[in-house]
Amino acid sequence: MLNQCRDDFPTLQNEAAPAYLDNACVTLKPQSVIDAITGYYTTTPGCGGRSVHRYGTVVSKAVNDARVKLGAFINAERADEVIFTRNATHSINQVAHGLAWERGDVVLTSDREHNSNLVPWLQLEQERGVDHHVVKSHDDNSFDLEAFERACEDAGPRLKMVAMSHVGNLDGVEIPIAEVAKIAHDYDALVAVDGAQSTPHMNVDVQALDIDFLSFSIHKMCGPSGMGGLWGRYELLDGLRTIQSGGQTVTHSTYTEATWAPPPSKFEGGLGNFSGMIATGAAVDYLSALDMNEVHEHEIRLNRIMTKGVNDLPGMKIIGPEDPSKRGGICSILLEHLPAHEVALLLDEVAGVMVRSGQHCVHSWFADRNIPEGSLRASAYLYNTEEDVRCFVDTLSEIAHTLG
Ligand SMILES: Cc1ncc(COP(=O)(O)O)c(C=O)c1O
Repeated sequence: MLNQCRDDFPTLQNEAAPAYLDNACVTLKPQSVIDAITGYYTTTPGCGGRSVHRYGTVVSKAVNDARVKLGAFINAERADEVIFTRNATHSINQVAHGLAWERGDVVLTSDREHNSNLVPWLQLEQERGVDHHVVKSHDDNSFDLEAFERACEDAGPRLKMVAMSHVGNLDGVEIPIAEVAKIAHDYDALVAVDGAQSTPHMNVDVQALDIDFLSFSIHKMCGPSGMGGLWGRYELLDGLRTIQSGGQTVTHSTYTEATWAPPPSKFEGGLGNFSGMIATGAAVDYLSALDMNEVHEHEIRLNRIMTKGVNDLPGMKIIGPEDPSKRGGICSILLEHLPAHEVALLLDEVAGVMVRSGQHCVHSWFADRNIPEGSLRASAYLYNTEEDVRCFVDTLSEIAHTLG
């Protein structure tokens, strides 16, 4: 099934198609998603949720359909628990700045968080007197459940929030969220999961994980840029303060008062990205037709090839556990003697291999280890082939020999 999917992606249909291995940043789009975007603008470019004319009605229905599909994809109990946002960053900010905080409330994160799941909590610490604590991982970056339990114990009744990535963009390492949630809930803390790197690559079931919030990036799921999602338990969303009030967020207003609309409208203030929402439905259709376990296994298979190839090269160290099955499709490499940005440029110039270089918005992890150069990160997705990853490894080897 996955073998055929390359045909669905227009950017992969020419002689000069890249070996695109920057999927942890943003994924390519299938034709069906592109058609959904242009379809909105060419057929019904109206406003959903408000106008009652034909354009408005068609858009409202398509947006609602997309929400229902997205809810089913993550196994939400109700579609109105799903909010369309600009990106995962917006979703996390909505949770962080929408909850009520008291001085001394404790928020726990891991030590490998993307800035989007670190800085909002640091901001609360600076502005609201919340205590942000970091749970250190094992030396190989795998999650230290015992350290987490100790951190919960230390915080005791002050523990208010556990905010952790499901899968890290630094290294592809998965945090055992179901176990984390169970422990956090024993302390009556909320669990907000950053699913930016899990939702596109594996089955994510918010009810089975028993979490409270899930933030994710639609643009990393074959969907359009400028789209993200936030799922939350309905009763929590109902009590959450919106960070963007205005049109769409109220059912009624007078000169002195406004009555909030129920979720999700309360959180979708202002005219929405309707083409993006509708195309999100197409992206979810695309992923729902695949077996997400197969997608995950495919990425690990490709990572085995990358891992073996990189381990054969001198002066390179992969971040995270040695076993590629513990790093999904991500192979993030510390280059001892080579400049990561230059290598990334050369990989594209020489062989059309596109990877990411730098600190991948996980500055805190690199700062802690004094590695300002960052790493070279290749990240695979469903349309990548063995040829893509072999080309990456072979070209990296050539570059290392030339520059080294
Ligand atoms: C783990 C993780 N969290 C959050 C984000 C931020 O996502 P967005 O760009 O959708 O805001 C990213 C993006 O790379 C990520 O990898």
